[in-house]
Amino acid sequence: MSTKLIVNGRPLNLNVPDDMPLLWVLRDRLQMTGTKYGCGVSQCGACTVHVNGEARRACVTPVGRVAGAEITTIEGVDGPVADAVRTSWQAIDVPQCGYCQSGQIMSAVALLNSNPDPDDALIDKAMGGNLCRCATYIRIRRAIKEAARSLT
Ligand code: FES
Ligand code: FES
Repeated sequence: MSTKLIVNGRPLNLNVPDDMPLLWVLRDRLQMTGTKYGCGVSQCGACTVHVNGEARRACVTPVGRVAGAEITTIEGVDGPVADAVRTSWQAIDVPQCGYCQSGQIMSAVALLNSNPDPDDALIDKAMGGNLCRCATYIRIRRAIKEAARSLT
């Protein structure tokens, strides 16, 4: 079955089953491996992408459900908010092993796009589903606040 997708602004026509998780379409069919597999059951956030600008878990999103939607991955996320997040992530040296960080960044960008000045409670709510086995949570929160500051 042919599915039309728009990934990082690029229109694609893919021959994949409708129920194939978006994560595996990205990683296995498109070789876009920046989006990570952690749990496969929407519990860790490693696979977070944007669908029409909102954070979404690619591991539990059947590709057929996002046909025609704008899908953005860590490889393609851009704009002033994404730039600010990347800069603060680097300045604060957020990652440890790095495995969870593309998902963390995608959630942080979605948060700041919808709320440019989030308080701790909002940050916790938006980022609560993104787990980090290296426990970089304090640096993540600092980096989000730093990115928000740099955008004002
Ligand atoms: S791999 Fe999707 S939430 Fe864990
Ligand atoms: S930096 Fe290692 S899991 Fe988050």
